[in-house]
Amino acid sequence: MTTATPLDFATVDLATVDLGDASYFADGPPHELFRRMREEEPVHWSPARNWATTPGFWSITRPEDIRTVSLDWKTFSSEAGGAALSNDEIFLAFQRSGIIGMDPPRHDRLKGLFQRGFTPKRVADHEPMIRGIVRRKLDEIEGMGTIDIVEDFTPGIVARVFGSLVSYGPELDENMSQVASFAFNAIAAGEDMDEAVQEWVVWLVKSALALVNERRENPCDDLVSALLEAEIDGERLNTAEIIAIIAILITGGNDSTRSVFAGGLYELLRHPDQFQALVDDPEKIPTAIEELLRLHPAFAHFARTATKDVELGGKTIKRGDKVVLWYPSANMDEATHPCPHALDIERCPEHQTFGAGGRHFCLGAALARLQLKILFEETLARYPEMTLAGDVEWMASPVTPGLSHLPVRLGPAHRS
Ligand code: HEM
Repeated sequence: MTTATPLDFATVDLATVDLGDASYFADGPPHELFRRMREEEPVHWSPARNWATTPGFWSITRPEDIRTVSLDWKTFSSEAGGAALSNDEIFLAFQRSGIIGMDPPRHDRLKGLFQRGFTPKRVADHEPMIRGIVRRKLDEIEGMGTIDIVEDFTPGIVARVFGSLVSYGPELDENMSQVASFAFNAIAAGEDMDEAVQEWVVWLVKSALALVNERRENPCDDLVSALLEAEIDGERLNTAEIIAIIAILITGGNDSTRSVFAGGLYELLRHPDQFQALVDDPEKIPTAIEELLRLHPAFAHFARTATKDVELGGKTIKRGDKVVLWYPSANMDEATHPCPHALDIERCPEHQTFGAGGRHFCLGAALARLQLKILFEETLARYPEMTLAGDVEWMASPVTPGLSHLPVRLGPAHRS
């Protein structure tokens, strides 16, 4: 079941539109509205009526404009106002200590340190570990008949992959998985977030601190030990920086991968011929994943803040204004993708699901792609007769606009 959206997006006066309103996302991203905005007002001011800390923001909906903003960090800063719509002070401080809320040169130095560990080649080393986790979860659900992919399947998998990378035990998986969802729900909720967020932030910081202390005592060949050893310009990272990095990895990579898997699987189940094509020829899965990423970007937006007055799309963006980059809109641009709403697993499109280039391009793209590849390969091989088992529900979030429920009938389990 989905909730009815309050507006007719085909006719609404764009001057009254406020894309920070979560109800616009009740049935997933408001694609008809985005289409009109790309056509009629590609740089658009929203008043942000639901956001206590943000007086308003510019929405950027065309892929080429999103790219321009993403590439020009001097004019469009991540540090000045963070990468989120909210200007909440706690969030800002949090983002500025992790790489998402930094500008060069600090950002370059920290990201450079990380990129070495997240290249496709280094990430590929984790394939056996990820495949083992996915297979164990598939064993667990065997015989369950009907399950909700979002609630019963993916959380345990992605949280365990992170647990293995960041070296925390399975006893933390559930909370780690929830802290990510909670952070994004709280960001999306705008003004109500302070108290609840503080509680989760404290939990996350304490857990990360315990990890760091443990690795100081007992270093091993894992990410936290590597961070403790790492030096930037001859200086070690301090504990607060390491904690912020762990937190950004857990929150950035958890819900996102789950969301693309659920959205992508939904897309395939609605198109049984294309589902079958992947069952018959799993070699096509990596190409298909690019199309699924295009159709289901896990994040609706990230933001920047203008550091000077600048013209874009015929509008003057003032110094200090927040600029919001809407990836679901870019991915549906008709000029770039003919018949953008159609699923075509052979298309292999360019998309902005991991960002539009520039310094903040997703650090975890290779890891996310590998996890998605293994998830689709193993799930389709084990349950080649899977079908939809009811209506889906959406998050209704302008931050993470994916599915909140995806009921499926597993069908008979196949074992090779
Ligand atoms: C399908 C899953 C994923 C999606 C759709 C996604 C999407 C994104 C997007 C849109 C950005 C911002 C790009 C920009 O502002 O230009 C981003 C940044 C980031 N992502 Fe991902 N991400 C995913 C998975 C992951 C994973 C698995 C990790 C963990 C390793 C991760 C870690 C990060 C980090 C650390 C940043 C900040 C990079 C920076 O500021 O330089 N992401 N991601």
